[in-house]
Amino acid sequence: MNIILLGPPGAGKGTQARILVESRGMVQLSTGDMLRGAKDSGTELGDRVAGIMARGELVTDEIVIDLIRERIESAGEGGGFIFDGFPRTLAQADALGELLDSIGQHLDAVIEMQVDDEALVARITARSVCGNCGEVYNDITRPIPDDGKCEVCGASDFRRRADDNEESLRKRLMEYYKKTAPLIGYYYAKGLLRTVDGLGDIGNVRDQIAAILDGGDERREIRA
Ligand code: AP5
Ligand code: MG
Repeated sequence: MNIILLGPPGAGKGTQARILVESRGMVQLSTGDMLRGAKDSGTELGDRVAGIMARGELVTDEIVIDLIRERIESAGEGGGFIFDGFPRTLAQADALGELLDSIGQHLDAVIEMQVDDEALVARITARSVCGNCGEVYNDITRPIPDDGKCEVCGASDFRRRADDNEESLRKRLMEYYKKTAPLIGYYYAKGLLRTVDGLGDIGNVRDQIAAILDGGDERREIRA
């Protein structure tokens, strides 16, 4: 089963993707994580994208499509792909359709996570991430354990993202509404769109997604 988690910055895409990796053996493909990985390892690509990401702008379609192509082609048989933060433009969405076609696969669902802007700002400005394994924490809703060690890997290297400040966040939100939100209509027309209320707590959102993946939600039957 291949799915897209679609939603604005801070909607909880990464958090839910990691739960699905753990519970269903799915493969998370996060273009944001891939680009940050390139930046941290000092590659030429990382240098090229660092400033763009810090400002909250989108990197070019060509770069992210190439990254996804490489990962899809090198991934073995698994429990399916979770596309997290990709696609973000209509050109990326078309490219993803072609890539999946070329390996005899298709998308099963596009899960839109709806969260209002006020909650997004609160979540993002309180986020920290384990620098070793990527586990996501939040000062308010999921604090770092008292012993200062990551619950998943035991490391003590917590980081704030360079783009998690109010100015970049405003830009990221605007990029989302201008360039990514049109994908909601695109996938609705293809009969793939499902929507969850992302304002619930992490467990509640997890359960809504599970109901969709297990076929327990009310499916829309409109197709282009
Ligand atoms: P990317 O890394 O994809 O960032 P984003 O889309 O801005 O989304 P975030 O990772 O900030 O949020 P999330 O939805 O994963 O939320 P999370 O689970 O962490 O992209 C970064 C940049 O890379 C882009 O701006 C762009 O420059 C570039 N880029 C990436 N992909 C690209 C593409 N395809 N094309 C072009 N450019 C691209 O949760 C957030 C916080 O909330 C955490 O603290 C978490 O603990 C907490 N939280 C999560 N769920 C809940 C809940 N239900 N209740 C309360 N708190 C919660
Ligand atoms: Mg994320």
